[in-house]
Amino acid sequence: MTDPTVLDHIGIAVESIDERIGFYKALGLEVEGYDEVPEQGVRIAFLPVGDCRLELLEPTDPNTPIARHLERRGPGLHHVCLRVPDIRAAMARLADQGHTLLSEEPQIGAHGCLVCFVHPKSTGGVLLELSQAAGEAEL
Ligand code: CO
Repeated sequence: MTDPTVLDHIGIAVESIDERIGFYKALGLEVEGYDEVPEQGVRIAFLPVGDCRLELLEPTDPNTPIARHLERRGPGLHHVCLRVPDIRAAMARLADQGHTLLSEEPQIGAHGCLVCFVHPKSTGGVLLELSQAAGEAEL
């Protein structure tokens, strides 16, 4: 049976993880870990919420997608991530149907996952990340 597609995480753009983390800790959430993706100029704090997690995204460089998002829109919802069993198959299906993917090939994301972003114009206005767990990924 094919693995189901599940909600993996919700990405929230913040100016500073350290300044925002207190709110989430007050809710009883805990930071599971931090990661940095230098290619995307972003530092990430992971906060598990059930089987899902919140990811606080802080720019490490002013000339990056996250920094530009903060400049244009301020802090807030940045993207929703769905974990799919086969990212290449999902990308091919979407491209075949005329949807706009932000890369032609999967990219390496946090935790070594394979990821691809789908343009908000295809999703109903939300930047959507597709992700395939590292263990299932074939590079
Ligand atoms: Co993400």
